[in-house]
Amino acid sequence: MAGACFGGELKFDESKFELKSVQVGDRTLKFRAYEGIVYVAKPASDYEVLNFYVPEGKFDDKTTAIFMPNGIGGYMPARPQTPQLQNEKPNATLEALLRGYVVASVGARGRTLKDGERFIGKAPAAIVDLKAAVRYLKFNDKFMPGDANKIISNGTSAGGAMSALLGVSADAPEFEPYLAALGAAKASDEIYAVSAYCPVTNLENADAAYEWMFGAQTKYEKMDFSALSAAGFNDRSGKPKTVSGELTAEQKELSAALKSAFPAYVNSLNLKDAKGRTLTLEPSGEGSFKEYLKKALADSYAAAKSREKSLLKPEFFTLETQGCTLGYDFKFEDFVLSMPRAKATPAFDGLELENPENDFFGDADAAAKHFTEFSAKRGKGESADAKIIKMVNAMSYLGNKSAAKFYRIRHGAADSDTALAIPLILALGLQNAGKTVDFAVPWGQGHGGDYDLDELFRWIDRVVK
Ligand code: DHB
Repeated sequence: MAGACFGGELKFDESKFELKSVQVGDRTLKFRAYEGIVYVAKPASDYEVLNFYVPEGKFDDKTTAIFMPNGIGGYMPARPQTPQLQNEKPNATLEALLRGYVVASVGARGRTLKDGERFIGKAPAAIVDLKAAVRYLKFNDKFMPGDANKIISNGTSAGGAMSALLGVSADAPEFEPYLAALGAAKASDEIYAVSAYCPVTNLENADAAYEWMFGAQTKYEKMDFSALSAAGFNDRSGKPKTVSGELTAEQKELSAALKSAFPAYVNSLNLKDAKGRTLTLEPSGEGSFKEYLKKALADSYAAAKSREKSLLKPEFFTLETQGCTLGYDFKFEDFVLSMPRAKATPAFDGLELENPENDFFGDADAAAKHFTEFSAKRGKGESADAKIIKMVNAMSYLGNKSAAKFYRIRHGAADSDTALAIPLILALGLQNAGKTVDFAVPWGQGHGGDYDLDELFRWIDRVVK
């Protein structure tokens, strides 16, 4: 932002809070609200702000972990979350405060943001902003309540992708020039733990994963991104509008070509299950990786069934003897045909640069670009810089020694915004890199996040101890 007058020296001002309260049932929660803290010295927009909340009883506490939610959705600009009841339930920020955590909710730039004619929120802006916010908290740790060595980030979908990326890419040198340009505080951006709901990550492989998984389904119900405001993504309480359709003959051909590219990618990762068995795919798309993914779905069904007993939808699961135990089995195609695709083909890198991810990969002057060779070759328009594509993919940083140690990843069984294979590969990759990963596929759950805050905070309680 030209002539920024609100940057200053990035020192936290302890006296600049409002005492606020929220009524939750018969409990009155009082907290200090430090809202709108500009976390960089040279902000590019008015999105580089964070809200810092400290619950009563923790005003002088330096040991409490800091919950750090981002409200990023659709790779759009995001405002920091405020503690609120949503449909009568506490949102993640309020829930964290009720449980005695300190909260730093962060805003970040996104793909639609402009300064005059120039775009200022294209990749990697969002992740640079989240890193700068972490650096602010670390830089000021001595002067702020909470412990900046115990930051737990949280996000959903595009925000889940950024949450995971924040955890794995800690202090990666290629971000330094971007952070310097913003006047980020001189500190580390390492965090402690990651919560990621349905991370729409690994975008350069997501199209192939999508067709490998959903290729048999030709009907789609696409989110109408043009009808969705950044604020709509931010609170995620409404149901997004959708557009229905059926794949064309050309899209079906593209689908088959993308599907056939997926096994080589999976095999290149050398993934292993918890027992050290290699997970691979044959050229046909069958193989141990597929069996592993199927088992994740069958376990999810079994867990829901044991809680509810009733007949669950879809109804094609059969109870079978599996070795010495009973387990559920199903035909993969039945599962795929039980729900519509949320995307046409290609799901992410649109040939006409029409998808939100194309927009995310634009630059200061170009609204949208390609990020896969597949679509660049067949479609119109330029390709994004390979270095930037790598910088926003959590998979690029699995070997990073500074990466967060703890990860909780969720992807609903009824979520087709990205293929389950994508978060599964991320979870396996992290586990194979020695991280502690809690991965699950909640049955019946569609695209969304923060739906199991009780379990999320029980996990956080455990990992911060
Ligand atoms: C989101 C959803 C998508 O389908 C997508 O492609 C990118 C982001 C989201 O909900 O944030």
